[in-house]
Amino acid sequence: MGQFITLAEIDATVQAVRERIASHPKIGIILGSGLGPLADTVQNPTIIPYDELPNWPISTVIGHSGRLVVGELEGQDVFVMQGRTHYYEGYGMDRVTLPIRVMQRLGIEVLIVTNAAGAVRPDFEPGDLMLLTDHINLLGMAGANPLRGPNLEEFGPRFPDMSRVYDAELIALAHKSAQAAGIKLHQGIYICLAGPSFETPADLRFLQAIGVDAVGMSTVPEVTVARHGGMRVLGVSGISNKANLDGSTITTHEEVLAAGQVMVPKLVNLLHGVLQAL
Ligand code: HPA
Repeated sequence: MGQFITLAEIDATVQAVRERIASHPKIGIILGSGLGPLADTVQNPTIIPYDELPNWPISTVIGHSGRLVVGELEGQDVFVMQGRTHYYEGYGMDRVTLPIRVMQRLGIEVLIVTNAAGAVRPDFEPGDLMLLTDHINLLGMAGANPLRGPNLEEFGPRFPDMSRVYDAELIALAHKSAQAAGIKLHQGIYICLAGPSFETPADLRFLQAIGVDAVGMSTVPEVTVARHGGMRVLGVSGISNKANLDGSTITTHEEVLAAGQVMVPKLVNLLHGVLQAL
């Protein structure tokens, strides 16, 4: 593999997926830390472990199963990633986002991306859900943009617009679905940091000062590539912990996974509502 992933490498992965699935899903879903059980609600699933696909980045983190679950949800063909990889695992940004390129070549048009996040907003509680209305691409600003390297013209332009990343119609559908299911749904700004260390109290006060509502270690790279390729995107954070703004508590991965269990049923209801309406 060269310095950056090429179209030929992407298409080798696409070919391997096509050999295993007969459907042509238009909807891709990425399940974040502790949110994997949503994949168990997929009907007639074809399951493909990531290590059976060439070039696919392998999840190394507990709480990320590392398999594709392709089947139906609410009558829609879906392509679900049960687990993802993160920049902190050591992959380049182009490898972290290869699954998005594969989805695009498979004809997927809508990306629903979920993550576990820490609440920077003091009024968010563990177990709450937050829709992303925008994000801060801090890693990208610092040079780690997944679109760095030769532009893949087949997908999109060298300088893609990022003024409307999260699709207004999908946001409206999600609010409608949440209301119908009686689920409290916040909305706000997400930031992706590299991790894997959690934030210091000073980091968190910085994030608060620049307008962040929730902080995590994923999503922004995938969404940047999704928008480059013209996908419509819905982003949902599951709030797994309060930010430790004053240094009085600690944050653990176990806490993140435990909150996932509370959020899964809500997320299932929310997304099923969105899929019904799509
Ligand atoms: N910080 C960063 N990433 C996270 C957090 C957090 O507090 N919680 C879950 N993912």
